Amino acid sequence: PLQLSNSYLILPGFVDIHVHFRDWGLAYKETLMGGARSALAGGVVAVGDMPNTKPHIRTAELYRRRMEEGSRLPIIYRLHMGVPEDVGELHAAKPRSVKIYPEDVERYGWGHVEAVGRACAELGCLLVFHCEDPAYFRGGDRPPEAELACVERAWAVARRTGTRIHLTHVTLPQTAELSRGWATVDVTPHHLLLDRENCRHRGLCHVNPRLRTPELRRGLLAALAAGMIDVYATDHAPHTLEEKNSGDPPPGICSLDVALSLLLSLWRAGVVDLGDVVRLYSCRPSRLLGVDVGIERGLFTVVKLEEFVVRGGEFAGSCLHTPFEGFRAFGRVVATAVGGRVYFSNGEVYDISPHVDRA
Ligand code: NCD
Ligand code: ZN
Ligand code: ZN
Repeated sequence: PLQLSNSYLILPGFVDIHVHFRDWGLAYKETLMGGARSALAGGVVAVGDMPNTKPHIRTAELYRRRMEEGSRLPIIYRLHMGVPEDVGELHAAKPRSVKIYPEDVERYGWGHVEAVGRACAELGCLLVFHCEDPAYFRGGDRPPEAELACVERAWAVARRTGTRIHLTHVTLPQTAELSRGWATVDVTPHHLLLDRENCRHRGLCHVNPRLRTPELRRGLLAALAAGMIDVYATDHAPHTLEEKNSGDPPPGICSLDVALSLLLSLWRAGVVDLGDVVRLYSCRPSRLLGVDVGIERGLFTVVKLEEFVVRGGEFAGSCLHTPFEGFRAFGRVVATAVGGRVYFSNGEVYDISPHVDRA
């Protein structure tokens, strides 16, 4: 084990390409500012927010409105646009990326996904897949086969349209292998650390894609250790505790406040090295989002190398519950700076004026 206890590390700002900041019709679950507070507490200086808001962001007008609101946050804000009914909306909005959900496939079919891919190829945007083929869903069951079937579909879209593709929150070591050369992939802290055996809370452990078996989870960790994963991203997806404790809990896990610490725990456990931590949660994701988060630009995170116990009640946003409750994590975020200003230090988000991107 490392003998670095109680020393500090200065690291570049971290970048989470997959978060749900809700707001609008779902502001009771989380708000843009609440999400930004969680990001800052977690050492994250830039995020890629998801379009499954209420309403879902399927038009250029909604895309612009949301980007405008996001630009007032103390972090760098990017947004993945939702699948529009009319691909003309993509040409109007010119998003850097488009997010495909299984629901979009059900609603519009794979042919429409391919049309979106062609538009994306023209615009130079990135096609981000929540990769589960809904044809394989059986009632509430969403088996691993749904992921493999979608990977094949996404590969066809890549081949036919030439657009850049990213597969988010992948859960199978096989997906990491199959995507080599034509798509980038990310994994979440929960699919790396939690499985059907060690995560027991019915509501808090409920997420899409589902937690897998311990064997598949260990396979995913091995793929990470082997350098086959491009990006680490939370899929921070807030719901209220009441919803999560209900008889029909909505899927989604909160982890943004502690995701970096969970990754640093994998460093301490010897699964990845410190270069991997920076590559997985800063360099590669910053390239996917097209943001510059270097230390030289005043974006950095200070971490204290100490063990601490994860407590959802100490999170900085609206979501105060997590299946990682009680986890012993390593590496506490003690300061986060964006654009040369410290917005988080010693447990307090204390300056919430906007970060002005001078790029
Ligand atoms: C996400 C949400 O709640 O918005 N839920 C989830 O379980 N991951 C949607 C999603 O990312 O698929
Ligand atoms: Zn998803
Ligand atoms: Zn998500």
